[in-house]
Formats: sequence, C-alpha cells, structure tokens
Amino acid sequence: MELYNKLLQNNREWVERMISSDPKYFSKLAEGQKPPLLWIGCADSRVPANEIIGAPPGEVFVHRNIANMVVNTDMNMLSVLDYAVSILNVQHVIVCGHYGCGGIKAAMSNQQFGLIDNWIRHIKDVYRFHQKELDDIHDIGKRESRFIELNIIEQVYNLGKTSIIQNSWSESKSPFIHGWVYDIRNGLIKDLEVTVNENNDLLKIYQFETGAVK
Ligand code: CO
Repeated sequence: MELYNKLLQNNREWVERMISSDPKYFSKLAEGQKPPLLWIGCADSRVPANEIIGAPPGEVFVHRNIANMVVNTDMNMLSVLDYAVSILNVQHVIVCGHYGCGGIKAAMSNQQFGLIDNWIRHIKDVYRFHQKELDDIHDIGKRESRFIELNIIEQVYNLGKTSIIQNSWSESKSPFIHGWVYDIRNGLIKDLEVTVNENNDLLKIYQFETGAVK
C-alpha cells in the first residue's frame, strides 16, 4: 500500500508544480488535443513514450503493446490508428521498439508462456520472413538486436499496408511513418531510416488503388 499511496501523493505534487508554473495549464489542456505524433511502442515499463522524447502532455497520441506490433486484426490498434490519422491528422507515426525486448526474446525461444504465445506468434512470423539473415548471425545477442530492428521495420510496413494509411497518403502524402529503436542501456534512440509516406515504397501486391471502396 505504501507504493500505491505514494502514487496518489506524487500526482498531487505534480499538479501543484504544473499550476505554479502555469495557472492555466490544465484548463488549456482540457480544451482539446491536437497531437502531431502517434507513437506505437512496446508496453515495456522502461520505455515511457513522452519521457524519452521530452514531449509534454498533448503532444503524443500513444498505443503500446507487447513488442510494438501492428497486427491488422487488432481492433484496438486500428481504432487508435484511424482516429489519429483521420481525425487528429497526425503528421508522424513512430514505431519505437527497443533493444532487450522481452517479446522478441520470447519469440526467439521455444518456451510456452501461456495465452501470450498467440501474440508472440506474430513476432515469430517476422523471424520466418528474415530467417536466412537471422540464422546467419551466430552471436545470439547480435541476432536478437537485429531481430528487434527487423521487427520494427516490418511494423512500419504493416502500417503502410492498411487502407487507413494509404488513403491518407493519397490525399496528403502524410503521415510519415518512421521506425526507431530505443537502447535501454544508454537511453538513446536510433532512427532506422525506413521512413515511408507513399505506397510506392510497398510491394506492388499491397498497393491499394487511390480512392475509397467503390
Ligand atoms: Co519490449
């Protein structure tokens, strides 16, 4: 209970600090949000979206799950994406994974973890797409790090494969979709330089014709 009570105490102290630097801080935020950025990150407690990029409340729309996956049957992810892109008109979508990701480690193992195995399966599929490259890396730590990067890149493309993103691209060449990897050992983010903002960057089979459903 000590930790629990401390959280509520921390909250009251935070409110006091924010109000003392700007008395209208909360009334301004209460008027509405217009974040320029959608963050799709890992649920890992060590990778708090706002904190690591110095973004204050109001700047980042956030979706997090195990291993920052973009699974196209995930109604939660699709709803966040559609609202962020079609209503909030975010200019950037960032898929941010991280080295040392437990989801990736689980996917590389043959162990059962319970219900989560069904989620991890999507990560194992990414391994299959890159099996040759990954199997050729004999150092397990390096293989894991490369798998983490390849998984992030795969999720960038998975976003691009949605009609939500492609319809937005055909109208405005926006949003830009980026892949980042966060290093929990030193706090630094590496841009994987896989930014896309048009469907020509996708394999032909995934390119929708412009315009909505006829
Ligand atoms: Co993780």
